[in-house]
Amino acid sequence: MISFDLIISLSKRRGFIFPGSEVYGGLAGTWDYGPLGVLMKENIKREWWRAMLEPHIYPLDSAILESAKVLEASGHVRNFSDPLVECQKCKKRFRDDHIPHVPGDIVNPNTRRCPECDGNLGEVRHFNLMFKTHAGAVEDESAVVYLRPETAQGIFINFKNVVDAFHPKLAFGIAQIGKAFRNEITPRNFLFRSREFEQMELEYFCDPQNAEQYFGDIRAMRMKWFIDLGIKKENLQFHDYGPLELAHYASATTDIEYRYGLSENEFSELEGIANRTDFDLKNHFKGYSWIEGEFVAKDSGFVPYVIEPSVGVDRAFLAFLIDAYTEDEVGGEKRTFLKLHPKIAPVKVAVFPLVGNKENITVKAKEVFDSLRKHFTTRWDDIGNIGKRYRRQDEIGTPWCVTIDYQTLEDDTVTIRDRDSAKQERVAITDLKNLISEKLQ
Ligand code: GAP
Repeated sequence: MISFDLIISLSKRRGFIFPGSEVYGGLAGTWDYGPLGVLMKENIKREWWRAMLEPHIYPLDSAILESAKVLEASGHVRNFSDPLVECQKCKKRFRDDHIPHVPGDIVNPNTRRCPECDGNLGEVRHFNLMFKTHAGAVEDESAVVYLRPETAQGIFINFKNVVDAFHPKLAFGIAQIGKAFRNEITPRNFLFRSREFEQMELEYFCDPQNAEQYFGDIRAMRMKWFIDLGIKKENLQFHDYGPLELAHYASATTDIEYRYGLSENEFSELEGIANRTDFDLKNHFKGYSWIEGEFVAKDSGFVPYVIEPSVGVDRAFLAFLIDAYTEDEVGGEKRTFLKLHPKIAPVKVAVFPLVGNKENITVKAKEVFDSLRKHFTTRWDDIGNIGKRYRRQDEIGTPWCVTIDYQTLEDDTVTIRDRDSAKQERVAITDLKNLISEKLQ
């Protein structure tokens, strides 16, 4: 397993991810996306939209600040908490479920010791994970608002708006990508558990009779999405929840887990797929039901069920990075490269003039660069020898490097080098665009 330190240091060195508020000593649980991180994250989000945007799926972008009433109705004010224990000696706080259990005694926290200083742990308390703030100048209870802990509630409270505007038939979905905030007790493991993160969520509304069928279909569809985008099958698995693991709103949940290598069994949650039943719609729209294609204030019809696949963009980002991290040898030299799927790679193609001091080569190379960058995220590099330039692109996962050399001046051909095989091929400049486009399909 690759160490997290290698991934964190590559991410920082090459401009993918920087620690949040770093110049002031850092702010735990926050990360800033650097230039390559932004490009790669956008690619992940674009692929998700591409998979989601069927004609009967409606996109949404709801507000991050939510009325306290929304989160009271959804059950988050009451239930969205983690069990917290405090060490009586060093005063550090931990999630109770993250403290190793003493065999034979899994319920009494006092028999477990602080993982930092071995002190006694206090009683378990429940700590609400939502960030609370106040809207406007007065900081009283009536001004309390929350930063949303999931994007899903923004979808549920807009259910009737979407139905009234578009008159969709069941089943249909509303999808959203956006930030979510949780005051995690112990943010950790790089992007895996942070306090500010992004989610990609689909709420798929259906007749309760069909909910089980859709749950199965969506579960399979989401696993395929990761595999099609290059994550190795052996690093992914399903985890079906038992009754005691379910969230307060769910009747069934399956996680897609990735082998991040964090815990003993190495697999941890990447995406959750839940049958949220009619829990949310019933709470936000009391007495409403679905009758003849409308959502109306009568309770003689049924309340649609909802199937929800929900994945953290940052967790997906981390899984793509870890899965792509590869070390091999090329020409007797060790190299590190990111074997990212070309659709996820932040830069698609790099253009090099073979030498930087021959004007006719540079001019030709600029022409090629300008023609490619209209279509693909393209980078220019004329620093150092070609071998070093290849290594730099390998390390950020660029799938193709195009070199303009002396032969180009004679016959308008260039070399295109493949990141994974490190092999070069000679092709006509006029064929480059199609060749790369085809590989990106
Ligand atoms: N709407 C359902 C929901 O929010 P969840 O399992 O709490 O369910 C869904 O979160 C996904 O959001 C997770 O599978 C994970 O990918 C991501 N996620 C949750 N908490 C996170 C955190 N603190 N940091 C990064 N990603 C997180």
